[in-house]
Amino acid sequence: MDTSMALVCDVDGTLLGDDAALGHFAEWYLQREREIRLVYNSGRFIDSVMESVATTLLPTPDAIIGGVGTEIGFPATGNRLTTWWERFHEWNPDAIAEMLKDDPRLQPQPEEFQSNYKRSYYAHNLTPSELDELHRRVSTVSSASLVYSSQRDLDFLPSQANKGTATAFLGCHWGLSYDRIIVAGDSGNDKAMFELGFLGIVVANAQPELQQLADRRIYLSPYSYASGVLDGLRQWLPDDPPPLPSHVSSTLASKSAE
Ligand code: GLC
Ligand code: MG
Repeated sequence: MDTSMALVCDVDGTLLGDDAALGHFAEWYLQREREIRLVYNSGRFIDSVMESVATTLLPTPDAIIGGVGTEIGFPATGNRLTTWWERFHEWNPDAIAEMLKDDPRLQPQPEEFQSNYKRSYYAHNLTPSELDELHRRVSTVSSASLVYSSQRDLDFLPSQANKGTATAFLGCHWGLSYDRIIVAGDSGNDKAMFELGFLGIVVANAQPELQQLADRRIYLSPYSYASGVLDGLRQWLPDDPPPLPSHVSSTLASKSAE
């Protein structure tokens, strides 16, 4: 089996968002699944992504990275790549929670979105200097990186973990070089995937935090959701490009339909 490529896709707002386009994506993927490893890379935990696989047209992937890069698992066996967690040092989520408990800007997300390796809050419209200040404060009690998405979701993670480093770790586990890994996303927690040199696809409905990313290796698609992913694959797989769904035409058309 030639498994020399991986397609690593965010789920909500990237593959999910346009069911008809997702159907086209699934149809394309099922013809290519022997050559391309499919990975979902979500802010949600693996079990929650598996629920979406069971209830939508999302094809079963080869691996799922969940919790904003904090867990890596394989649906076929149910196994987790436990060596990933061995990299997380000096991480103290309880100390972070204690330090932030009286901050009026931060509301803890529900318990189902918290784990040993992820403390998440809702925090609306924080400025870059507020984020810097929060990072400085929590760094006095724990190793931590901050990931801010959609001007609302604030995740504290072990400093070694994010969607990009987890992708690199999985790629290395599979023996793939960075130019054999295509990543696709729509919001702030995907940014780390675009900063490591993989081939990138930003869908047209992406948050402003990703729209400025254009680079030789990052393609900004004029199409939204799964159509944007398929369009990006036309860019990165020019020898065998997937067809575009016929119901979408351009950024302007898909944006005005929102
Ligand atoms: C997902 C997670 C949430 C996180 C957000 C951004 O929605 O459920 O906890 O804050 O992604 O990373
Ligand atoms: Mg998303």
